[in-house]
Amino acid sequence: MEFAGELHRILKPEGSFILDLGGAYMPGFPVRSIYQFELLVRLVRETGFYLAQEFYHYNPARLPAPAEWVNVRRIRVKDSVNVVWWLSKSQNPKADNRKVLKPYSDSMISLLKNGYKAKLRPSGHDISEKFSKDNGGAIPPNLLELANTDSNSAYQKMCRDAGLKVHPARFPAGFAEFFIKFLTNEGDLVFDLFAGSNTTGLVSETLGRRWLASELSHEYLEGSIFRFDPSTLQRA
Ligand SMILES: C[S@@+](CC[C@H](N)C(=O)[O-])C[C@H]1O[C@@H](n2cnc3c(N)ncnc32)[C@H](O)[C@@H]1O
Repeated sequence: MEFAGELHRILKPEGSFILDLGGAYMPGFPVRSIYQFELLVRLVRETGFYLAQEFYHYNPARLPAPAEWVNVRRIRVKDSVNVVWWLSKSQNPKADNRKVLKPYSDSMISLLKNGYKAKLRPSGHDISEKFSKDNGGAIPPNLLELANTDSNSAYQKMCRDAGLKVHPARFPAGFAEFFIKFLTNEGDLVFDLFAGSNTTGLVSETLGRRWLASELSHEYLEGSIFRFDPSTLQRA
């Protein structure tokens, strides 16, 4: 909340604020904290952000934890979804889902090829001929499935060689990529205030956006410079 007012102040009227939050158990008990939801209520009620849409960030490779509840007593399941609050300063933040279309499913591809007979679905939806129009891809859902399995990157090797700590909680590049493409245009400014290894800056750079990053740990920032090494940096 200390940052919320300042973020609201510096955000452009059509800008968005993306906040990814992992879940947590109450210390010592197999019951969950509800801090993500309390924070959302405060960001909307007290700071004045709008909730444009909620997303869920699913990492299928997440390890089971905490061991006591999940592996030993077996009374809880794996926690592999973070909530992502897409907050905005206005009710109509800049967004275009045509920039983040997913490849069509096999069944949709065959439908596009063979045509679709318009009919009333059991659900009552009237699916018209327009359904078989090729729009270049499927509209993505608000569930982002992104495995975080990038363990051999040049960034890691260069950090190790320089004796710097590799950031332990890096995000998959696909996370920043989705929201930057969806919510910004080339030349727009992207700011990550808890930048870590600066995945956001790297993705912004490759997508032709301007970027700013701030990070508490000088060591993480030092390591993040390797992400921009000319030998590894590829422009989109
Ligand atoms: C989950 S990590 C971000 C990882 C990043 N998305 C990446 O891909 O590398 C959160 C970061 O916030 C930083 N942090 C925590 N409090 C901060 C603060 N008050 N100001 C700036 N950075 C902070 C931590 O040092 C940590 O590196």
